[in-house]
Amino acid sequence: MTSIGILGAGRVGTLLAGKLSEAGHHVVLGTRSPTEDTTATAEGAGPRVSFADQRTTARTAEIVINATPGDSALERLAGLRTELAGKVLVDVSNATRDAADGLPGDLCHPGSSLAEKLQGALPDTRVVKTLNTMLFSVMTAPETLATPPTAFLSGNDEQAKKTVTGLLGDLGWPPAWIEDLGDITIARATEALVLVVPHILRRHGFAPFAVSLAR
Ligand SMILES: NC(=O)c1ccc[n+]([C@@H]2O[C@H](COP(=O)([O-])OP(=O)(O)OC[C@H]3O[C@@H](n4cnc5c(N)ncnc54)[C@H](OP(=O)(O)O)[C@@H]3O)[C@@H](O)[C@H]2O)c1
Repeated sequence: MTSIGILGAGRVGTLLAGKLSEAGHHVVLGTRSPTEDTTATAEGAGPRVSFADQRTTARTAEIVINATPGDSALERLAGLRTELAGKVLVDVSNATRDAADGLPGDLCHPGSSLAEKLQGALPDTRVVKTLNTMLFSVMTAPETLATPPTAFLSGNDEQAKKTVTGLLGDLGWPPAWIEDLGDITIARATEALVLVVPHILRRHGFAPFAVSLAR
């Protein structure tokens, strides 16, 4: 059992919390309003999930997952440098700015990536990028797609990536569907894949999908 803190109690955070707690982990969901009634966002998260503010969540967990909006994540997580020191930070977020038509259109960190920026701002933390290339429902149910989806993985620390591969296993990802592409600079490629997402949604609605390798 690992103590896992998830920043952001939205669609992604709540779903991951539920599956990871089912797998036996102790999960804390880090929300901006832990004292308010969190029943709505807790729905589906399971009984073994507790709530805390985001700073407490980052401080108390062994592994922290960033499931907050990517466009503002760099400044927010850089402010948690002390709390995140020595930990694995799993970044599943996407940092895009809305285009004129209201759909995500531009990367916030062109020529780089949010994950690289986070690694630079958090030198004592081991950042691993994964799961940002699929609809949230696929993150915890990859077997429901007609063709095997891919969970891309990148990060500088091999042990951290092994740890995250184990968590992906707990979420239902067999090793063969996990593609470790290399160090954290690879995240600029996998983060760029998000640019295709609004166009997929426009054509197919919210039908589950993952941007994947086919061989
Ligand atoms: N939805 C998907 O299919 C999908 C797929 C791949 C990747 N992602 C990425 O995963 C991340 C979360 O996506 P989501 O769909 O779960 O979004 P969401 O439903 O909007 O949830 C994000 C959560 O982050 C917290 N949050 C929002 N603004 C914040 C701020 N300024 N400071 C701190 N916390 C804030 C909120 O939780 P509290 O109100 O509890 O604080 C909010 O519920 C995003 O970066 C997204 O790009 C999403």
